[in-house]
Amino acid sequence: MKPNPKDFRVDALSKLRGEARYIRDERILGLWHGLTVRSPHPRARIISIDFDDAFKWQNVTVVTAQDVPNNYVAMIEKDMPVLAEKIVNYVGEPVALIAAPSPELAMEAREHLHVQYKPLPFIDDPLQAEQSDIKLYGSNNVFKEIRIERGDLDEAEKTADKVVELEVRTGFQEHVYLEPQGMIAIPENDRIVVKGSLQCPYYVKNALNEIFKGLRDITVVHATTGGAFGGKEDFPSLLAAHAALLAYKSGHPVAIFYDRREDIQFTTKRHPSVSKNKVYVDAEGKLVGLDIEFYLDSGAYVTLSPVVLARAALTISGCYYIPNVRIVAKAVATNTVPSGAFRGFGGPQAIFTMEMIMEELAQKLKMDAHRVREINLIDEGQTTATGQVLKYSVSNKQTFYDVLERSNYQQKLNKYRQWNEPILERLKQGRYPKRHPDDVLKGIGLSVFLHGAGFTGGGENRIKGKLRIEINDNGQPVIYSAQTEMGQGQQTAFRKILADALAVDIEQILLADVNTDLVPNSGPTVASRSTMVVGSLITDIGREMIKKFLEELKQEYGFPFEYRTGYFYGGDMVLPFRQVAQKHAGLIFEKEYRHPPFIKFDEQNWKGDAYPVYSWAAAVAETEVDPITFNIKVTRYYTTHEIGKAINYDQSIAQIQGGSLQGIGYAIYEKLERQNGHLNVHGFVDYIIPTTVDMPFMDIKILENPYPFGPFGAKGLGELPLVGAAPAVVSSLRMIFSLPINKIPVMPEDLFELAQILRKNGGQP
Ligand code: MTE
Ligand code: MOS
Repeated sequence: MKPNPKDFRVDALSKLRGEARYIRDERILGLWHGLTVRSPHPRARIISIDFDDAFKWQNVTVVTAQDVPNNYVAMIEKDMPVLAEKIVNYVGEPVALIAAPSPELAMEAREHLHVQYKPLPFIDDPLQAEQSDIKLYGSNNVFKEIRIERGDLDEAEKTADKVVELEVRTGFQEHVYLEPQGMIAIPENDRIVVKGSLQCPYYVKNALNEIFKGLRDITVVHATTGGAFGGKEDFPSLLAAHAALLAYKSGHPVAIFYDRREDIQFTTKRHPSVSKNKVYVDAEGKLVGLDIEFYLDSGAYVTLSPVVLARAALTISGCYYIPNVRIVAKAVATNTVPSGAFRGFGGPQAIFTMEMIMEELAQKLKMDAHRVREINLIDEGQTTATGQVLKYSVSNKQTFYDVLERSNYQQKLNKYRQWNEPILERLKQGRYPKRHPDDVLKGIGLSVFLHGAGFTGGGENRIKGKLRIEINDNGQPVIYSAQTEMGQGQQTAFRKILADALAVDIEQILLADVNTDLVPNSGPTVASRSTMVVGSLITDIGREMIKKFLEELKQEYGFPFEYRTGYFYGGDMVLPFRQVAQKHAGLIFEKEYRHPPFIKFDEQNWKGDAYPVYSWAAAVAETEVDPITFNIKVTRYYTTHEIGKAINYDQSIAQIQGGSLQGIGYAIYEKLERQNGHLNVHGFVDYIIPTTVDMPFMDIKILENPYPFGPFGAKGLGELPLVGAAPAVVSSLRMIFSLPINKIPVMPEDLFELAQILRKNGGQP
């Protein structure tokens, strides 16, 4: 398909030309530079902070816990301090801040600031957290526990022909946005203005309001943001607090810019997960029961873990119909940098877990991996684990069959099995596995996944996102929202939604700068909610606007008008939209979001409509594994996504490409581990992400099954592609070796070990 210039991203040119201003592009007179003094221990008592006399402290500003008016970062809870006061709970936890006229002087000052610690025992393993004598949170270190129960597992046990048990693990993942975290705070009389690379301006504003309660007013401005992926959802509240405190105490504007090492080691990551799973099936392979104990390793403070956990628990069994279910999910504390939001928000961990359960079943029942999935797929009219009846826009089977057909799955499966046979045979016999340079093992695997758009449960009704559209003096509608562009295409989507709703050119629509003094709180830019949730307010207001103008025209001329294709027709008059709108310059339209009233969720018992609707997808991954080096390459990746309606087709494809590749990285490249409380990566030397050369051939199809309450039927898209990529890749590796692989990332050394098992046991696990 040829690109249509009308579909270009509205932010593309300014970014390509280097005109877009990122936070590091700000030129502010008298700007000071801030840095952070961090704990070198996973857990320790702070004994003292000493200022070395050899340094001239009057030239710099130092902030410690004593200087913080209210020392907590308001998020779901208030447990995380802005600066540690008595105890540090993770390696890198901020203890003090220094600002100076130059970065060099600030670094020099840091050399002369001596913090003494008494190291304490710490929690290193999420499975040990509950029993540990070390108490990081409450009596058992559980930040949040969720139980989802349906039917009766005893019943499942009675009717089942087979019970399969397995443990599944997923690792950390780092966002690797192009632009590391950065923030500038500017003191202005009674106000502090904070500007930075961030997703959720009102989260930052609320957090700073609590810290400076009554002392300063707060304004938050969104700078052009070079990627976020959830990593700039909660963390910027802490960074903004640091910059603001330095600005408050020094009286100077202060910037804090993280370098890559600091960003990788000390900002949020994707939560690692561990789960113990038991699954009951009948003789045909139909699921009769599922029993899951699921843990998220949440790090030292609560941050967003309860909601990440909720999404994981509500996602796990989503694609399959299972009559008896028990999911016990816990977010537990460890002495590690707090994990936070990351594209998929618990979904990738959950779907990987469920898809490995299906893989294990297939192997134990000696069925094909796609067949076990096929007979268990949930469909319209059926009920999920929370008792939600899926009523509309359900495309689980459509995406599944479409991707199998387009990828030629069945034929390739047979072909690759045959192809692999002699190579595997030589491996088993311990002989040199290659007769020919092209002797690589070929895998094909699949995954089925979904993502609920918008906040979980009653979240949207609590937050009541507000949107405002104003007509400017030129008769152009200006959209005022707190939604932020971070590369996902929100600016293009918003302008296009209103342009289409009014049947005018996209150039006619403007967006207000995201500044909390100007824009209403439409909620955070998370949970793939901008297009579906906030976008629905845009179409609602668009309709209201036309209705209002039609009424006004009738009043003015005394006869009715009609609106079509951007023009008002009445009598023998034809008035373009802009001409009519111009007469209403200054007119304001506002609207607040509510879910359709029949969507109900009981947050005490975890019952009901967890999400108003789901986006659905399935993927097929093909891989090649070198039988000597065990190097893994994803060669082809097919995926079908059903997203209600693609607001901008090219951009939707790009989201699916990027998200899928990020999921491939999660599966086979990105390894980040905790060793003695320290994270073991420092930058791109030891944290490997897929690059263009690792990009497989991708074949993407978008299906549209409109959601009646989304703008033009659109549902959420941004996170979905990442959610199911890793299990598809691992499924293809399991297909090659016919052995359990239940953890990601999978590295060549893991496959080497599998080959050793093959060799020892002649293929028996
Ligand atoms: N795509 C790009 N290019 N950059 C990003 O930072 N963030 C993802 C996804 N796609 C991200 C992205 C995440 S975490 C979310 S929640 C959604 O976009 C948000 O998009 P939406 O609210 O506009 O739908
Ligand atoms: Mo996205 S993880 O919800 O910011």
